[in-house]
Amino acid sequence: MRPALSVTSECAPLVKTGGLADVAGALPMALAEEGWDLRTLLPGYPKVLEATGKGRVVMTEDDLFGGPASVRSVRHEGLRLYILDAPHLYDRDGGPYSDASGADWPDNPARFAALSWVAARIGAEGLGKWTPEVLHAHDWQAGFAALYLSEMGTARPGTVLTIHNMAFHGLAPASARAALRLPARGFGPDGYEFWSQISALKAGLVWSDKITTVSPSYARELLTPEFGAGMDGLLRARADDLSGILNGIDTETWNPATDPAIENYKSPGGKKRARAALREEFGLPEADGPLCVVVSRLSDQKGLDILLDALPALVDRGGQLALLGSGDKTLEARYRAAAEHPNVAVHIGYDEALSHRMIAGADAILVPSRFEPCGLTQLYGLRYGAVPIVAYTGGLIDTVIPASPMAMRAGVATGIQFHPATAHALAGALIDAVALYKTPGAWADLQKNGMRQQVGWQSSAPAYAALYDSVARR
Ligand code: ADP
Ligand code: GLC
Repeated sequence: MRPALSVTSECAPLVKTGGLADVAGALPMALAEEGWDLRTLLPGYPKVLEATGKGRVVMTEDDLFGGPASVRSVRHEGLRLYILDAPHLYDRDGGPYSDASGADWPDNPARFAALSWVAARIGAEGLGKWTPEVLHAHDWQAGFAALYLSEMGTARPGTVLTIHNMAFHGLAPASARAALRLPARGFGPDGYEFWSQISALKAGLVWSDKITTVSPSYARELLTPEFGAGMDGLLRARADDLSGILNGIDTETWNPATDPAIENYKSPGGKKRARAALREEFGLPEADGPLCVVVSRLSDQKGLDILLDALPALVDRGGQLALLGSGDKTLEARYRAAAEHPNVAVHIGYDEALSHRMIAGADAILVPSRFEPCGLTQLYGLRYGAVPIVAYTGGLIDTVIPASPMAMRAGVATGIQFHPATAHALAGALIDAVALYKTPGAWADLQKNGMRQQVGWQSSAPAYAALYDSVARR
């Protein structure tokens, strides 16, 4: 097996705020089948240390951005992990990026520069006999790793940066440069400077050998000012090194045949039973329209304000909505208010098991995102016969085949797409959905086509393996 190091701020099942965790958690298994021994460097948040135990110390730092630190080697649920134990940076209540009130930790630049620093050291020095041929960094939190590596000497692994979300840059004031151990000469438009600030993401985009993102369509969109978040020029210059590799899902965790969240789901009537149970759980009445669900972070990206405005198009026609999500406080309040309607039910919170029950019981899953690098919940929907109704953007383009008359006739349609991401267009899609739902056979066709679609890592794992091979240290 060829050694490679994945550097990430989240990894399922240990710590998760979104799809990054799922992907970081699934890639090692997927790549093992391609002959890569992908190990994961992850911050030692309290929950992570609690779950993995202390492990064996394999590297130490006397002063890692303000305190002593060690790297601990552990195994957990099939993963080989290097946990960065640095209490002054990670031993805190709250989430990986923010305190319990939701405010970002003020020292986030240093917290994740530290992760990148240690990644670079592992890349340059190896750990005993294990020396990675490739360092695979995820998002801005690992953005400085390739830059630090380039400062550490000549023998180094190949570097790949994956953009899971271009909206987060990991900015720091220019005055933090020395404290972040960044070389002065890199602070310029061709380096890690971004409008007079320091950008960890930009450092990754400039210094990594290859750049990937999580769908081919998002890779194309990133080259435009609308989606490039100020990095589109740089990415156009590096277009030859940029590729989109579609995310897969964990087809074990999301397996309708064995999912413990729903019994006998694949047996006849499974969807009906799961839907009845879901209605009961959410206090929704019987209805003759589709039961639609949302499982999502509540943030501007996800377009859920648009959904609120389009909702009458669904509920006035006998459709229903059940939403599970948390995040933006205004959106939380607006959804709580929307749940006054008898055909709208809302659960504000984060709940993995409930998310399985919802996708199992749903007729449709809604993903009305303004932008979506890949998106995972529409893939769960495909697998569980919950027809995706999605915006025409990013990975949603690449994973859903819209129900045009031709695609329906050809037996390939799997969902409904709308464009642009406006309440008007979404309302149109919801009206179409209700009509299709009430057309004998049509919905069942969409469900069957979707359930046949490959949503695992079958083609993406070989794509990553080929990319690793192209940059690997020999
Ligand atoms: P993003 O990473 O932008 O949030 P993805 O669709 O890639 O979007 O991944 C989101 C992941 O988080 C999915 O696994 C989804 O099921 C999960 N998720 C989001 N919100 C919740 C919630 N409130 N409860 C349970 N799971 C959630
Ligand atoms: C990001 C994106 C999402 C993607 C996930 C995993 O959070 O918002 O679209 O699926 O990363 O790559």
